[in-house]
Amino acid sequence: MFDLLCIKIGTADNSSWKGNLKENKTFDYLDISNLSKNFEDKTIFKNFNKKIPFGSKVLVTGESGSGKSTLLKMISQEISMDYGEISIVKNGKKIEIPMRYIGFVSQEPFVFNGSIMYNLTLGRDYEEKILKDMLKKVNLEELNLDYLIQNNGENLSGGQKIRLELARVLLRSKSIILVDEVTASLDKKNSKKIRDLIYSLNGVTIIEVAHHIDDESRYDDIITIGKEDWYENH
Ligand SMILES: Nc1ncnc2c1ncn2[C@@H]1O[C@H](COP(=O)(O)OP(=O)(O)O)[C@@H](O)[C@H]1O
Ligand SMILES: [Mg+2]
Repeated sequence: MFDLLCIKIGTADNSSWKGNLKENKTFDYLDISNLSKNFEDKTIFKNFNKKIPFGSKVLVTGESGSGKSTLLKMISQEISMDYGEISIVKNGKKIEIPMRYIGFVSQEPFVFNGSIMYNLTLGRDYEEKILKDMLKKVNLEELNLDYLIQNNGENLSGGQKIRLELARVLLRSKSIILVDEVTASLDKKNSKKIRDLIYSLNGVTIIEVAHHIDDESRYDDIITIGKEDWYENH
């Protein structure tokens, strides 16, 4: 019924419509199976398999150039695989990952010159209370909704931009959040704050690429790309 309604009003991404009619975007697990990827003569993945249960937090680590970002880009279908399948299993059925399930938080979040309100809604209709609650949730309550972002975000700190992007993704109730080295450009204290925030979120599956992590214990699983026995064991 909800799908029909959205088609009628021409909403391409029904997930964020009004921000309060939430589609059920849960699933059993994300399934990466027999994934292979080469760039020219370099093998990045060879028969890689991994099941990521809904709601888990996974760390992807490995040397620079090992293929961490490539993995996230294949999950979000930004680049293609050579072989294999990335899907979700939902209600026991394997389906292609709906793109509206996926949110990407990058090291260089995009911000627009305009109000915080606009940067959150991107012109969609959300209740003000939902927006304010979201600012609180991502620890951005120091910025009110009318605060104007200028010069492509020069008047925001790196940490604030990442929080803002995270708020945007959460507002759209994504269930798979891909996080690519977001804390690389932040100092230790801010990195910890962002990571604490990300790991306090419930009901979302987080796949985070990170180089140096102080505390790996809070991840449910760790994928280390390119280590010695990588190609034999995957
Ligand atoms: N579009 C591309 N064409 C050719 N080679 C690429 C492309 N994207 C990435 N690579 C190469 O694949 C390897 C993995 O890249 P990447 O996934 O960005 O690594 P990481 O994120 O782990 O630093 C690197 O050697 C990189 O140069
Ligand atoms: Mg990378």
